[in-house]
Amino acid sequence: MFNNTNNNDIENSKFKFRREYISKEKDKIASNTFDKETMITLSKFFNKYIIKKINYIIAKGKEADIYLAEPGDAEIVNNERAVILKLFRIETSSFFNMRKYIAGDPRFNKISKTKYSLVNEWCKKEFGNLQIAIKAGIQAPKPFMFKNNILAMSIIMNKDKPAPQLHNVILKDPEKVFDKILTNVKTLYKNKLVHADLSEYNILIADNEVPYIIDFGQAVDLRHPNALIFLKRDILNISSYFLKQYNITMNIAEIINKILKTNN
Ligand SMILES: Nc1ncnc2c1ncn2[C@@H]1O[C@H](COP(=O)(O)OP(=O)(O)OP(=O)(O)O)[C@@H](O)[C@H]1O
Ligand SMILES: [Mg+2]
Repeated sequence: MFNNTNNNDIENSKFKFRREYISKEKDKIASNTFDKETMITLSKFFNKYIIKKINYIIAKGKEADIYLAEPGDAEIVNNERAVILKLFRIETSSFFNMRKYIAGDPRFNKISKTKYSLVNEWCKKEFGNLQIAIKAGIQAPKPFMFKNNILAMSIIMNKDKPAPQLHNVILKDPEKVFDKILTNVKTLYKNKLVHADLSEYNILIADNEVPYIIDFGQAVDLRHPNALIFLKRDILNISSYFLKQYNITMNIAEIINKILKTNN
């Protein structure tokens, strides 16, 4: 009896310690990603019935945390199996990097002065860019809603899971995938947009090896003074990957010329 009580006490204090530890860790996570403003912003997505539950985090990018959520009752998410929430971090955002892609884009005639408003502008920019991409018919996530530093969009899936990045997949038909990516870049260009951060990390491979382009925050209007430099860099990045990984050789100058001709 004495021993039992003693053991129970030890067990109870162990549990108490563990409970306190977990609760402190949860507070830390919450205070890092879900600060008060973010919580208020998130509530708007619930109020508009875009989501009804946040399930779990699926990725931590350089600029944002990506969460998987359950769709709410809004018509726009009716046929979705899940909604992706992209929460742009305010504190760790690369302010100077973002400015490069906003300054010079005529859609944004004045640059926000504070980090907070610049990140919100960035989120709005990604939403607008995704709208252009979807309207143009390219494979990209459908944008549902943005508010402040949070963007809701459709999930890209592969075998019932969030789709993997191109660099984590061994393709069966790499030529076909490469060709589809280039067609998307061309269509985007025709619709006056350059992705400007195209790489094996910003392409997801959905079912049937269909490539989807994601992460459109930095995409610029063709009138941006560096649009052509960004387009060339995109083509170079993606061609280098297919050369390194699949030994596919392409004439980069020819590809770029073909894309440039689409607008004439
Ligand atoms: N719509 C989506 N469907 C499925 N997975 C997604 C979607 N959007 C983002 N992801 C996952 O989250 C990762 C990070 O997303 P994204 O590239 O948009 O954020 P980021 O902060 O700009 O990231 P990074 O700085 O690493 O480029 C993606 O590589 C992908 O694995
Ligand atoms: Mg990315």
